[in-house]
Amino acid sequence: MEREQVQIMLEQNGHIVEPIDPTVKLVEEINRLKKEKNAVILSHYYVDADLQDIADYVGDSLQLAQEAEKTEADMIVFVGVHFMAETAKIINPSKKVILPDLKAGCSLADSAPIDKFKEFKAKYPDHKVISYINCTADLKTETDVVCTSSNAVKIVNSFPEDAKLIFAPDKNLGNYLNSITGRDMVLWDGACMVHEQYSVEKIIDLMEQHKDADFIAHPECEKPVLLLAKHIGSTSSLLQYVQDSPANKFIVATESGILHQMKKACPNKIFIPAPSNDSTCACNDCSYMKLNNLQKLYICMKHEQPEIQLPADIIEEAQKPIKRMLEISK
Ligand code: 13P
Ligand code: SF4
Repeated sequence: MEREQVQIMLEQNGHIVEPIDPTVKLVEEINRLKKEKNAVILSHYYVDADLQDIADYVGDSLQLAQEAEKTEADMIVFVGVHFMAETAKIINPSKKVILPDLKAGCSLADSAPIDKFKEFKAKYPDHKVISYINCTADLKTETDVVCTSSNAVKIVNSFPEDAKLIFAPDKNLGNYLNSITGRDMVLWDGACMVHEQYSVEKIIDLMEQHKDADFIAHPECEKPVLLLAKHIGSTSSLLQYVQDSPANKFIVATESGILHQMKKACPNKIFIPAPSNDSTCACNDCSYMKLNNLQKLYICMKHEQPEIQLPADIIEEAQKPIKRMLEISK
């Protein structure tokens, strides 16, 4: 395939469109390509079950960033969303990093365009910036320390108590962190479209129907939802909680992909996705995460495209706050 043709396809579709011989056994081929190319597959908990099962590592954003940093593979295949693959490239720039679909974005990352953020930051010249990892590489260059939902409390507490702080881009996580740490961080007004759609009324009804269930939630959910939760945490923290809790039933307010690992870890427990305001949508699915599939993964490994590429100066600047996060998280 001509280079120009590939470029046009990536711009239009976000991935290479190529017919796949129906006799090809995708899982076998992906595993063969992985060996041949000395690649490592990193999948986030939110992608489909078959993409989690084929991965070398499945994890939350922090765990996957840590794996990307220490991998000895030549190529990192990131089955997740763009900011995650970009982070992998930033912390390990000598590796080739590929993502099955370039259009796998993130509503949170999109909510903080860099020029708007710079204007906002200029209003608070004496503030340090903590950015949630769900943001663009450009935003990371304007950041002092990055965090994920796993280490956010630790990162905030690593600053002196009187430090003036901006938190971006997730206002829900930021609000939660303010309440836990007693800080008064200035919040950027961004949110995740998946975690903002839960219906408090319907969750309360469901909790009434299942009095024996623990309600658990990701901190990207809005405050009224979090107030109902028995446990609040990152995807890996929610996964750990269901294993440790004596309860046998859980109502889960986060993206549905995590249920696959919960069911694997606790086959005899029951997991109920938290209900959304709109009962007609697949709202518990992140439409960006769900752009990944086995076909695209296979084509992407075959052509080693789409590849994440970033200017050297962006890598250099964005690496600093990520390295600080990884250091604090040790
Ligand atoms: P975790 O860091 O908990 O895996 O969350 C990632 C994410 O995108 C949440 O929406
Ligand atoms: Fe972004 Fe929300 Fe999807 Fe996570 S679930 S990747 S925050 S849009």
